[in-house]
Amino acid sequence: MKPGIFAVRDVKSLITDTSGDAQLKRAVGSTQLTAMGVGAIIGTGIFVVIGEGADLAGPAVILSFVLAAVACAFSALSYAELASSIPVSGSAYTYTYATLGELVAWIIGWDLILEYGVSVAAIAVGWGGNLNAFLDAAFGVALPDAIAKSPEDGGIFNLPAVFIVLAITFLLVRGVTESARANLVMVVIKLAVLIFFIVVAAANFSTGNFKPFAPEGVDGVTAAAAIIFFAYIGFDAVSTGSEEARNPAKDLPLAIIGSLLICTVFYVLTVGGAIGIATPEQMSGSEAPLATALDEGAGITWAAAVLSLGAVVAITSVVLVIFYGQTRIFFAMCRDGLLPQRLAKVNQRYGTPARLTIGLGILIAVLAALVPLGEIVKLVNIGTLFAFVLVNIGVIVLRRTRPDMPRPYRVPWSPLLPLIGIAFAVYLMSDLPLDTWLRFIAWLVAGLLIYAFYGYRHSRLRRPAAAVDSPAERPETRSDEEQP
Ligand code: ALA
Repeated sequence: MKPGIFAVRDVKSLITDTSGDAQLKRAVGSTQLTAMGVGAIIGTGIFVVIGEGADLAGPAVILSFVLAAVACAFSALSYAELASSIPVSGSAYTYTYATLGELVAWIIGWDLILEYGVSVAAIAVGWGGNLNAFLDAAFGVALPDAIAKSPEDGGIFNLPAVFIVLAITFLLVRGVTESARANLVMVVIKLAVLIFFIVVAAANFSTGNFKPFAPEGVDGVTAAAAIIFFAYIGFDAVSTGSEEARNPAKDLPLAIIGSLLICTVFYVLTVGGAIGIATPEQMSGSEAPLATALDEGAGITWAAAVLSLGAVVAITSVVLVIFYGQTRIFFAMCRDGLLPQRLAKVNQRYGTPARLTIGLGILIAVLAALVPLGEIVKLVNIGTLFAFVLVNIGVIVLRRTRPDMPRPYRVPWSPLLPLIGIAFAVYLMSDLPLDTWLRFIAWLVAGLLIYAFYGYRHSRLRRPAAAVDSPAERPETRSDEEQP
């Protein structure tokens, strides 16, 4: 009898799938992994989406940042348990395949396209906004709206966003040699830029802007948390690099939780500083709110130029890491036969899944060109929160179905903490607008149709022979040099 839609992949087979010739070099230590997390996290969320948060919550947006961090913390523990017990590429998609079966794995893999692929579009729009802010602050010129904004925002298409997506596509196709080191440099730059902001803000700080503190009350705070949640997305990207971790048992939990913690501290200080120098109104209308806070709030244009240039660098690394994560998850889905295996063909010259990367790059560039940031962010958030729900469920289920599996890291008080993680995620999801829910449901329905008509039939679980002559070789055979 063929395996059904809830067939699970054996954890051992997932791990041996990655051994032999195709085994990755376990060369990445905890500092680099934490840097990968920080590299993926600090970007458009803090540099741009903060503006919409301030609009919804007023100065109390600082509480929204704390709320979103707490919500993430519970799920981060679950990611840490799964990443350390199943240290293979593919993140939540792979964990779900091992725990909740193929159908749910497909749903989450499809959903992760929102968290990774679609969010690259949002991040790219934020990149463009900061580039424009830099040109304005440094040279007094800015790109015309027609080529710097989406149609809904009064432009024709967003050229800078398209540019950065295609540039990173090119890099990923070529293989980013020495990229772990390059990422470390960019992380140092982004932390330096935030420290710079915090110091300048502290020197010009006024408590006056904090009143009234929460004009929209608790509702405003939670609504803003559901939006600025975007700023925390990325700590789970650490788990997409599990196969390269030197000591996954210790280093993965440390990096996942550590990167979240570091970013939370930086965010709270940055948001506090921003409110101390600018009004929520000044920030909410801007495409680069932190730069605007320095420019219009504190009146220090040179500092705005420094900050927006730093933001451009900071956001570049987020595009790189998140896009990289997307190619790896997509690759895993193709390798399993749920998407066409030929898409994951490895380019002979570069040793990377070039075809898949270029295809994704073009789709993401189109999205970034035409859709306004706010819309994409909400869709990304709902998709990511849904992934958190499934990952928490995965921890609870796996504890029951595979109680003896070695778990180098265990979430304390399971199932209580994973359940709290689920409750927080659902709570934030419920604060997103109906439109976003409808788009999300449409996305999932489209995914289910693809599974019914394609994935179910082509899955490697149902065609074991396909595993042997799969054209999709692992790109990772060369990738210890290439991973961002
Ligand atoms: N957290 C990432 C950002 O803010 C996605 O850009």
